Amino acid sequence: MPPVDLGIPSIPTPWQDATLPPDRPATAGLVDRYGRVATDLRVSLTDRCNLRCTYCMPAEGLPALPKDSVMTRAEIARLVGVATRELGVRQVRFTGGEPLLRRDLVEIVQDVAALEHRPEISLTTNAVGLDARADALRDAGLDRVNVSLDTLDPDTFATLARRPFLERTLAGIDAAARVFDLVKINAVLVRGVNLDHAADLLAWSLERGFELRFIEQMPLDADHSWDRSAMVTAAEVRELLGRRFALAPDDEPRDGAPAERFAVRSLATGERLGRVGIIASVTEPFCADCRRTRLTAEGGVRDCLFAHDESDLLGPLRAGASDAELADLWRTAMWGKGAGHGMDDPSFTQPERTMSAIGG
Ligand code: 5AD
Ligand code: SF4
Repeated sequence: MPPVDLGIPSIPTPWQDATLPPDRPATAGLVDRYGRVATDLRVSLTDRCNLRCTYCMPAEGLPALPKDSVMTRAEIARLVGVATRELGVRQVRFTGGEPLLRRDLVEIVQDVAALEHRPEISLTTNAVGLDARADALRDAGLDRVNVSLDTLDPDTFATLARRPFLERTLAGIDAAARVFDLVKINAVLVRGVNLDHAADLLAWSLERGFELRFIEQMPLDADHSWDRSAMVTAAEVRELLGRRFALAPDDEPRDGAPAERFAVRSLATGERLGRVGIIASVTEPFCADCRRTRLTAEGGVRDCLFAHDESDLLGPLRAGASDAELADLWRTAMWGKGAGHGMDDPSFTQPERTMSAIGG
């Protein structure tokens, strides 16, 4: 009788079943069908936040993700390691929610700084509580911070962030300035609330050597109250700042950076005061130059802030997927990236997740 092979048939696990899309090339990096290569990774460390900015969160907050669905320190290090070692990611930015709400933030930074292909590591934060941790974060390997600050007026701050924490934010910014070479400030302008504060915020930033960037408000709020016709546009910000300062396009190449940068000079003396950036995500989208890939706090890959779906990596990781398999899932997720966010298209629909849940 001929021998019969009684080998146990192997049951493919769900992620092994995912075949290579027929048109996806077997390249190492995170390429998409429009030829873009993602080398910049944003990792949301938590969906929770201690502020409730109106353009981001509802007043009552959002139901918190169950703790065990959020990536642990070890899982973050594993996925960031896959990104840097296998996928060519060079820059990693931690976001939230508010990343300082993670008690293990310093350790997470340490882990990523210890990776064989160490990326540049930065943090986007509202700076509440940063004063107590800035030194430890720098010592752990954090390279840069971006702080969100929309106004210097305590009452307006409390209206916009729905929390009276201006003092605490400013203390965090002071600490960041002491510890890091470059502090960037992100501001969102909301008509009727802080639009008139834009030039003051710039004057304050220039005096301290901070690079301020104004970000056009995007439809990522929980209340779905974003209104294209009411939003403050980049053109309007330029015009408004131009009344108090002389702005000229900066000579430095933009190189994929979302902010259009301007050299700022005094109107009276022509003295160079510094720089300002304007991020026109809505009116002058830079999607064609996008180099970004994102991980949500739950370990899902989002190829765009405005994507409607995510590719889960945490499930496969917990089920035993290898680094090579995780890398391949990530490549497939990015291959499907759309050409742009299509905010100007009548069929545009706002993603279900808010900024706090995706990570800015
Ligand atoms: N539009 C534009 N920027 C936003 N941010 C949060 N929500 C929005 C929005 N709807 C900003 C925060 C922070 C950065 C991560 O994103 O102010 O600076
Ligand atoms: Fe918190 Fe940032 Fe959202 Fe404000 S914008 S509520 S600081 S996550």
